[in-house]
Amino acid sequence: MSMESISNSMFSCLLISFLLMQSCYGTDTISQNQTMADGETLVSTGETFVLGFFPVQDSTNRYLGIWYRRSPQTIVWVANRVAPLTDSNGVLTINSDGNLVLLNGTKSIIWSSNSSSTDAQTNLVAQLLDSGNLVLGRNDDFSAERYIWQSFDFMTDTLLPGMKKGIRLQAGQTWYLTSWKNQSDPSPGEFTYKLDNIGLPQFVLRQGSVKKFRSGLWNVQRFSGFSVMNSTVIACTFVYDDKEVYYSYELRYSSILSRLTLNSSGIIQRYVLNEGSSDWLIMYTLPYDMCGEYGKCGPNGICRINGNPICQCLDGFVPKSKVDWDALNWAGGCIRRTPLDCKQGEGFIWLRNVKLPDLLDFRLNRSMTSQECKRECLKDCSCIAFTNSNITDGGSGCLMWFGDLIDIQEYHGENSEQDIYLRMPKSELDAIQNQKHKRALLILVIPLVSGGMLVLCFFIWCMLQRRKKKRGVKIGSDDIELPLYQLEAVTTATKSFSVSNIIGEGGFGPVYKGRLENGVEIAVKRHSQTSGQGLGEFKNEVILISSLQHRNLVRLLGCCLDGNERMLIYEYMPNGSLDYFIFDQSRKKLLAWKNRFEIALGISRGLLYLHQDSRLRIIHRDLKASNVLLDSELNPKISDFGIAKSFGGDQTEGKTRTVIGTYGYMSPEYAFSGKYSVKSDVFSLGVLLLELVSGRRNRILDHSDQHLSLLGHAWQLWNEDKALQLMDKCLKESSVESQVLRCIQVGLLCVQKLAEDRPTMAAVVFMLSNEIVSLPQPKHPGFFLKDSYTTASEASAEERFQTKNAVTITVLEGR
Ligand SMILES: *[C@@H]1O[C@H](CO)[C@@H](O)[C@H](O)[C@H]1NC(C)=O
Ligand SMILES: *[C@@H]1O[C@H](CO)[C@@H](O)[C@H](O)[C@H]1NC(C)=O
Ligand SMILES: *[C@@H]1O[C@H](CO)[C@@H](O)[C@H](O)[C@H]1NC(C)=O
Ligand SMILES: *[C@@H]1O[C@H](CO)[C@@H](O)[C@H](O)[C@H]1NC(C)=O
Ligand SMILES: *[C@@H]1O[C@H](CO)[C@@H](O)[C@H](O)[C@H]1NC(C)=O
Ligand SMILES: *[C@@H]1O[C@H](CO)[C@@H](O)[C@H](O)[C@H]1NC(C)=O
Ligand SMILES: *[C@@H]1O[C@H](CO)[C@@H](O)[C@H](O)[C@H]1NC(C)=O
Ligand SMILES: *[C@@H]1O[C@H](CO)[C@@H](O)[C@H](O)[C@H]1NC(C)=O
Repeated sequence: MSMESISNSMFSCLLISFLLMQSCYGTDTISQNQTMADGETLVSTGETFVLGFFPVQDSTNRYLGIWYRRSPQTIVWVANRVAPLTDSNGVLTINSDGNLVLLNGTKSIIWSSNSSSTDAQTNLVAQLLDSGNLVLGRNDDFSAERYIWQSFDFMTDTLLPGMKKGIRLQAGQTWYLTSWKNQSDPSPGEFTYKLDNIGLPQFVLRQGSVKKFRSGLWNVQRFSGFSVMNSTVIACTFVYDDKEVYYSYELRYSSILSRLTLNSSGIIQRYVLNEGSSDWLIMYTLPYDMCGEYGKCGPNGICRINGNPICQCLDGFVPKSKVDWDALNWAGGCIRRTPLDCKQGEGFIWLRNVKLPDLLDFRLNRSMTSQECKRECLKDCSCIAFTNSNITDGGSGCLMWFGDLIDIQEYHGENSEQDIYLRMPKSELDAIQNQKHKRALLILVIPLVSGGMLVLCFFIWCMLQRRKKKRGVKIGSDDIELPLYQLEAVTTATKSFSVSNIIGEGGFGPVYKGRLENGVEIAVKRHSQTSGQGLGEFKNEVILISSLQHRNLVRLLGCCLDGNERMLIYEYMPNGSLDYFIFDQSRKKLLAWKNRFEIALGISRGLLYLHQDSRLRIIHRDLKASNVLLDSELNPKISDFGIAKSFGGDQTEGKTRTVIGTYGYMSPEYAFSGKYSVKSDVFSLGVLLLELVSGRRNRILDHSDQHLSLLGHAWQLWNEDKALQLMDKCLKESSVESQVLRCIQVGLLCVQKLAEDRPTMAAVVFMLSNEIVSLPQPKHPGFFLKDSYTTASEASAEERFQTKNAVTITVLEGR
């Protein structure tokens, strides 16, 4: 080596060391004549990542890899995936060919970066960057554009911020995730998550060559399978030009780490790690749910996660094999009821909000308009569906499908709409048109008929459905298939409605525990025969809850209608209701802090679903401890939808002259003027959070001492900086201080006086589950004092299971 290059390299060394404030042989770099032996590591400058040798479970093999410095050790990259070292004599170095190489104890090359640079092969350095990228470059020209090799181009099972997942078109280079074989073998396993750039780009998870999950097609704004790509934590980009097509993401906060990982059972998960925490939280999992499984419903089927069952045939189609379909074996899919004949009058029906079918047999023309697209599809007898390829500005471009439609899924998110037009023969179009008329008529009729009539209609309908041997009823304009139970079965299950089986008393009648012949335990809500009162509520509850499906909502199994009997059959919750625990001196000890925090999160998620994610957006209006039931694992389930209201479109609040609800949980605007909105539910949730922490009811009439309700008490302690004193003493040992404080603060934010100050449920869930966010300071809570309210009776302290004493207060307007 000449003097010049030596002085040159010394200069660069000095420069680097000056820049990085580290010694020349800094801990994040290795230069050509250095080695890194097993036991030694490189640590990136910001101390985020470590490069070193690591063992795997149940094996003596060792690998070179990169992991997060913060515990627990989480491997994000492996060099010698397929060529393990069998002992700890491995050494990493840069050899004279200019490659980063891993040598074993006898100096054989086990793994090489295999870079094919033709530059001079001297004076190279490898550096572990703080992004987790291990890069190799010339010491005198060490810039991102000139790296000779980088580990980010050879990702293993983890996508880190800044990595690109996709294709570099000219070079034919692909970047994709491959799973490990298993926990003790990092060599490429069966699963890959890779960009398919055929027609419109989409990411596809495969097991071998079998598709397991698709992200949905890129429609210029997003992947149709993802409602939101960006989140509060992550900013995503998707680059789609004639050089490169790739997905990549960055973190919005430096204090949060995040990674996307494909595990060895083919599950993709996005994890986040908050500062100061050592537990990676799962942000989401893909496939997201059963409907995410590729082709779940077979050809021409559509998956609706809230459907019962989840698979249905597209309009105009019927199951290929009725027997299989009824046995919930959907793989065979559906066929047309009436074949297309390409005669006059064929047209399209509009299917909204779907994950577009897979591109198996298709044609794409980016310059056509929607009209041209429709004409073009009609012209070709084998074209069965079309849509826009670019949804910007009302949509343009033409994507046409031929053959069967595979992997269609319906969404409910706000931001996920992508529509498709399905070709139908004339006869089907006419039939669908008729059906619509009938439904429209029904929507008109239902509110008009009086209570008794309604029950009669409903009853006849049930009977008809039953005669058709189709165990289900259709209600209103919604396609709700609700199983019907025979009165005999329910009578037997509840031992002839024995008094000893009563587990609760609702406002509209008793609730019985029962056990069906097949051993399934049920809760039967029997609407009292005499009172015409609960009728509207009955209908309300049936329509609302049968369309809901969420793990934090109690599940309606079916109904039973016979003569004057009308009953709702629910899943049975062995642990009763939340108030049964938290307000009872001995039982409260059974719910440790961890359980309570999980319960708080569960209720919040359930409410978020009601407000935002369910098909009918719903305001519950009577959220309280006694309406939260606990299953055998203490998972909370919101129940009692008797007075819930569904709201559509932009409408987010309503007004009623009859204020129904429960004292202590009612927001001031609802109690005083009958105005209810999602924010009145948020208020109730806030009360519930404070009750969970304190083990005290927010009763407003029993505070002879200083007019202080629970809210007032919490607010006072908060202002005196003594909020922790609110906590129930029985939680002392199990509590996590930061979580308790967070719960109190979120609770206080929820019960703020002005509805507009209160957070949305999305914010509540986020604030509860993310330690990183610094919360706003709560303002004065909205509570009202004894004297301002005199017309109501107090909610019973003994209420269990269902609304026993739903306080009914009629507030006259103008008061
Ligand atoms: C190193 O690798 C070579 C080639 O794979 C092999 O023959 C040799 O036994 C290995 N040495 C050790 C110590 O593992
Ligand atoms: C490097 O290239 C050689 C020959 O092209 C190949 O046999 C070897 O598997 C490659 N090694 C790696 C780690 O890619
Ligand atoms: C590496 O070592 C060789 C011989 O030991 C020497 O000739 C060469 O100059 C060294 N290279 C660097 C970059 O220090
Ligand atoms: C992991 O896979 C290897 C083969 O690839 C197998 O020999 C080993 O038993 C597996 N280990 C576990 C824990 O499944
Ligand atoms: C995500 O947010 C970033 C900026 O925060 C923006 O540049 C980017 O376009 C957004 N991505 C998507 C897919 O909306
Ligand atoms: C992969 O992730 C899923 C979901 O968390 C988990 O059930 C499964 O056990 C994981 N597989 C492995 C091999 O860790
Ligand atoms: C796409 O559609 C336009 C407008 O109809 C037409 O001029 C063009 O030839 C089509 N391109 C292809 C490749 O079919
Ligand atoms: C999508 O459509 C918009 C509006 O017509 C247009 O500006 C944009 O260039 C289109 N994008 C692509 C990729 O075709």
